[in-house]
Amino acid sequence: MATDPAVLPAPAGLGAPGGLGAPATGVLVTGGASGIGRATALALAEVGRPVAVWDLDGDGAGATAAACRELGVTAHAAQVDVADSSALAGALAEVAGALGSVGGLVHAAGVSGAMTIDGVDDALWDATLGVNLRAAAMLCRDVLPWFRAAGPGSAVVLVSSIEGLFGSAMLPAYCASKAGVLGIMRSLAQHFAVEGFRVNAVCPGAVDTPLLAPAFELPGFRQQLEERTPLARVSAPEEIARPVRFLLSEEASFVTGAHLTVDGGLTSVTAI
Ligand SMILES: NC(=O)c1ccc[n+]([C@@H]2O[C@H](COP(=O)([O-])OP(=O)(O)OC[C@H]3O[C@@H](n4cnc5c(N)ncnc54)[C@H](O)[C@@H]3O)[C@@H](O)[C@H]2O)c1
Repeated sequence: MATDPAVLPAPAGLGAPGGLGAPATGVLVTGGASGIGRATALALAEVGRPVAVWDLDGDGAGATAAACRELGVTAHAAQVDVADSSALAGALAEVAGALGSVGGLVHAAGVSGAMTIDGVDDALWDATLGVNLRAAAMLCRDVLPWFRAAGPGSAVVLVSSIEGLFGSAMLPAYCASKAGVLGIMRSLAQHFAVEGFRVNAVCPGAVDTPLLAPAFELPGFRQQLEERTPLARVSAPEEIARPVRFLLSEEASFVTGAHLTVDGGLTSVTAI
């Protein structure tokens, strides 16, 4: 096994079948029953990558996998609670058996834990950090042996948020978890690079998914958001899925330790 990144060969997946520079290896997508995770699984299936879909919602995961199969790829679904770290290694072995390899991981499972700090208790804090942050770390730990089997070119994308870069009074646990995701991403990018694996994050702005639905019910919330966003709208989940697919692909072969903000310009604005 090579230990000096300076002498690693170009990734074996470069130009491999699958289109858009996609390696042919399988990708695990957590939170794939809904929203960004579902859109990501479908975007990967579009370019021929086998996908495994995990979610607490087993029926929803099954529906996404079925839609991926209709696009012509092998797809596996399982009901997995990513906050249960003890379940991850065994479930990953099942994924590798079903797909033949695991050379990609997208951690899109997430919860908002919306509550000002006055109302946050240990249970809410631990539930939010457990899914959003601890699972990101433990999934990366447990996917590593499968990346070694799949070879250089394997890659992780963690779904953070613009709330990992900025603050929101309603979301103390969420903001902490998403900032933590960026920290673990940078740490693991160094560790994984030694073996030719990449680790990146995306920081979406407002995306039209069930996670944000309660906020959209607040009077004026959507309108204010759209007015502050240079592109003047919220995004569809597919508009996050495509940048995630890019980061997993060999088109991004020299991108690691990075976060890609996908927010319609919202955080580029300094308004007086
Ligand atoms: N929607 C947005 O505006 C937005 C913005 C920035 C970041 N994000 C992030 O994007 C990711 C995806 O969110 P979304 O907007 O698609 O929301 P969503 O609610 O549509 O999807 C999240 C999925 O995660 C699953 N999930 C939750 N806890 C789980 C667990 N313990 N184990 C397995 N699956 C679990 C849910 O069942 C759901 O299917 C999250 O990490 C979220 O924080 C969303």
